[in-house]
Amino acid sequence: MGFSLSDPSLLRGQAFINGEWVDAKSRAEFPVFNPANGEIISHVADVGEHEAQNAIEAAQISMQDWKLKSPTERSNVLQHWHDLIIEYADDLASILTLEQGKPLAEAKGEILYGASYLKWFAEEAKRIYGDILPSAQDRRSFVIKQPVGVVVAITPWNFPNAMITRKVAPALAAGCAIVLKPAPETPLSALALAELAIRAGVPAGVFNVLPCLKAEEVGEVLTASSIVKKLTFTGSTPVGKLLLRQCADTVKRTSMELGGNAPVIVFNDADIDLAVAGALASKFRNSGQTCICANRLLVQEGIYDRFLAKFTQAIKEFRLGDGFDAKTTLGPVITEKALDGIGSVVTGALDQGARLVVGGKPAESDGWFYEPTVLADVQADMDIFSKEIFGPVAPVIKFKTDAEAIAMANDTSFGLASYIYTQDISRIWQVSEALEYGMVGVNETAISSELIPFGGVKESGHGREGSKYGLDDYLETKYICMGGLNA
Ligand code: SIN
Repeated sequence: MGFSLSDPSLLRGQAFINGEWVDAKSRAEFPVFNPANGEIISHVADVGEHEAQNAIEAAQISMQDWKLKSPTERSNVLQHWHDLIIEYADDLASILTLEQGKPLAEAKGEILYGASYLKWFAEEAKRIYGDILPSAQDRRSFVIKQPVGVVVAITPWNFPNAMITRKVAPALAAGCAIVLKPAPETPLSALALAELAIRAGVPAGVFNVLPCLKAEEVGEVLTASSIVKKLTFTGSTPVGKLLLRQCADTVKRTSMELGGNAPVIVFNDADIDLAVAGALASKFRNSGQTCICANRLLVQEGIYDRFLAKFTQAIKEFRLGDGFDAKTTLGPVITEKALDGIGSVVTGALDQGARLVVGGKPAESDGWFYEPTVLADVQADMDIFSKEIFGPVAPVIKFKTDAEAIAMANDTSFGLASYIYTQDISRIWQVSEALEYGMVGVNETAISSELIPFGGVKESGHGREGSKYGLDDYLETKYICMGGLNA
């Protein structure tokens, strides 16, 4: 058990701008913590306005060549980057576990998931097609697709690798250059990706990484810049709204992958073991810290007690611990603040009448661990019903009819992922179509992959990541009219 790297040069501490590793001009640094024990891992350059401007300008200049490379050349670079990520997957997983806490096997899964976006968009780079439209006799009308321009990506700490590649791969495939601001909790994974980008032949300036502790200063520079044409963000809905407001002045294109409040609806006719397994996998993936985590378990009255018993029994098998321990199945949450926040949500729910079935408190540890928790008999008027929990806490709610389940599921400002468990094909279609969500998993909660359009509706955001739709967010559609043909 423990941290070691086959290639220690993947562990970087500086910003990556225009193909070079640089300190902050101010010399400022910030600490990165291991959430499993609260200790400082290392210090990383804390960049500001100066570095943000440099990165934007480097991206603008480098993009002029990058967008003119042939699709095959861009594809080859992305494919090479993918291959290096696979080669160093164990090292990248170790860095991820160290700074983020998820169990090593889960971290390795994220690295492979992240790499899959590079492979997918390496392939899609060669399939950016235009169109010839029906036209009058004297003219021909064409549509061509062009890169949107310099892109800024702001990424979260819960998937410090895959949320980067999911944005950077389509941007680069489209011919854009990108400036990345990773989450301050997990900059090391982003910087390791940059090290591999150099080795893969990503040209200087095409991919830049700006670690910084306080996002406001850098965020304002990035959003105010008229060079930056597009902002892609994964994170909370309040921050997404702020960024949208900041982007309004320069009318930037935006993609927003924001918060969720995913319901898992288990009907009486569900395969109960499948439903329990799916709900567990979704709820406790990454210790409940994903935007598509099961946030509310809606269970029909005829199956409620049996579901609760099986679900709770399975939770008792979880083993909380350091992600480097092979026996660990559930890691810490990201910060002490997050731990306190989860505690308040649980206390609030108990005060409002929820019933504690298991867990309900932080675990004894130097790190930031919360016991896997089940709260039964949760009602729609309790605060926890509308709150994105982002922790290993499962509220279980009883319902009677399909209509009631749909109404409860949709009774939220969020609309990212939702899940249903039923064997009835009519119900599958009726409920899937009635759910106001960007994604519906039917008898399945492991819905993410590079092959599908990931994204939400309502206050969960807009834009889609992955799949053939994922490139659209980085392309402009230009109409060209060629006239005077019969003159
Ligand atoms: C997220 O939490 O938004 C990402 C989850 C995923 O890609 O499966």
